[in-house]
Amino acid sequence: MNLFEREKNAFLHTYKRIPLQISKGDGIYLYDTTGSKYMDFFSGLAVNALGYAHPRIVEAVTKQIGLFAHLSNNYVTNVQLDFTEKLLHYAGMGKAFLTNSGTEAVESAIKMVRLLKGPDAMIYSLTNDFHGRTYGALSLTQRAKYQKGFEPLLPNTGAIEFNNVDDLLTKVNGNTGAIILEFLQGEGGINEVSTDFVNTMTELREKYGFLIISDCIQCGIGRTGLPFSHNYYSFNPDAIVAAKAIGGGLPLGALLVPNSLENVFTLGKHGTTFGGNPVSCAAGLVVLEEVFENGLMEQVRQLGTYFKEVLLQMKANYPEKIKSVRGKGFMLGVELTFNGSGVVEQLFERKILSNCTNDTVIRILPPLITEKQDIDIFCTHFEDILASV
Ligand SMILES: Cc1ncc(COP(=O)(O)O)c(C=O)c1O
Repeated sequence: MNLFEREKNAFLHTYKRIPLQISKGDGIYLYDTTGSKYMDFFSGLAVNALGYAHPRIVEAVTKQIGLFAHLSNNYVTNVQLDFTEKLLHYAGMGKAFLTNSGTEAVESAIKMVRLLKGPDAMIYSLTNDFHGRTYGALSLTQRAKYQKGFEPLLPNTGAIEFNNVDDLLTKVNGNTGAIILEFLQGEGGINEVSTDFVNTMTELREKYGFLIISDCIQCGIGRTGLPFSHNYYSFNPDAIVAAKAIGGGLPLGALLVPNSLENVFTLGKHGTTFGGNPVSCAAGLVVLEEVFENGLMEQVRQLGTYFKEVLLQMKANYPEKIKSVRGKGFMLGVELTFNGSGVVEQLFERKILSNCTNDTVIRILPPLITEKQDIDIFCTHFEDILASV
């Protein structure tokens, strides 16, 4: 039996596997067992910010695992604190709860809202948002394809139509506990929340006192060219959920809140066995240093602008094939006028890994270490494919 037959035998069939047997990764490249090299412009779904086998991550993880791989959260450790203090600093927040994943960070946020606002208060998210697969997060993942069949979902959760100010004004009131949103939607097709929507939402927050929770699980940690995607707007969220890139490829997530919310969970009210694992934190610390202190985020901002300009020029060249180019930094989306899966397949044949989301949007999420010449290679192939389809 080959690997793919064994996979069918062994696993529940939740994933559409890519027909590739990876043997190793290095920088922005993955190598298969035949030695072929693939340029990864998907980064393990926005996780591998520093690419594969980054020497500083390898060193930090190796050192930490030699000391202790796990301690229960009954102990405090330097590595967990070094990581958390730095994360809080760049997030402009005061207190953290560390988790293993994004969905678990969202669950923590939901539990926090319930404690603060009571069981009847509504928690909203935006249509097309993705917040995770566990029950609370799924209840806020406003896409039928993920929710269907899992009803009944968490009560008192609902959707506000993306960027629809009227819907926001109609739904939000004194019984609103929170709105959680991706300021740059990933899975939903690289959609930016409008300034108008954000301004109205923050005015309503003044009036009604609900929480605004920024889901920066995909669009955080420098990916958009600023630390978190809400930093592009002039307001402060009441909580941030982060994950994916923050663990440098190891499982790690976080709920971050201001000091004013520090007493929301009393002793023992919330917890996790693995959350804030020291090895993950050691890797995460390297990510934070590289992204925020060693110039990577500024590089992403500059190169992301260049990348988008090239894609916009492509749109001008092929207006009948490209509907729009969206996003910021290294989180870009090219909406095609046709289903994009064939383009992703052709990129794959040319040994470039990418992704199509929402049927027509080519989602581009290269590692943050990607350089100009890599972008040029991608764009040359992408334009070539567009010309031929
Ligand atoms: C914006 C956003 N929120 C939440 C999640 C869930 O994170 P995880 O898969 O780590 O549970 C994801 C995952 O893709 C995401 O993109």
